Amino acid sequence: MVTGTAGSLAIGLLFPTAGQSEEKVDLEKLCSAFPYNSQCENYLPGVRAEDSEEKPIEVSAFLPNAKAGIPVLVKGLPKVAYLVINEGPKIAEYGINPVCTHLGCTVEWKTERSRFECPCHGSHFDAQGRIIKGPAKRSLPLVTVVVKQNQIRLVDRKPAIDPRSTIKN
Ligand code: FES
Repeated sequence: MVTGTAGSLAIGLLFPTAGQSEEKVDLEKLCSAFPYNSQCENYLPGVRAEDSEEKPIEVSAFLPNAKAGIPVLVKGLPKVAYLVINEGPKIAEYGINPVCTHLGCTVEWKTERSRFECPCHGSHFDAQGRIIKGPAKRSLPLVTVVVKQNQIRLVDRKPAIDPRSTIKN
């Protein structure tokens, strides 16, 4: 039986294509969770966030217009996501997937009331996507956001730990 590093090397030599694709998947996982890991210097996970005209967003142009507490709708994933803007302003490492957890309608951010509202049956969610009022019972799902090389990258995967569990109101 072949074990450890010797085993991995042997499998890599026998199945180079499988090994390469596995390496890519691992980098995607590693670099979306730890974008500043030394192995991720040249790797940009996910897809680039775009504005409403589908132009790639540059962080240097975006941040001066961003306001803490006001989520910003961007394109890039199959549909859209909201970036969460923290004090600074700073782009949070997670974004909000605006699909209502009740029956799947798309929620909308309402600045005048500082909350997401679902147009179908009236569920409300706060600026971090946490449930305020039903009939939905769960908070909005999250995506991972990586800010790197003047780009905003959206990764269609929730963060390993829900960052909202540590946020105080
Ligand atoms: Fe959003 Fe029903 S789908 S409240």
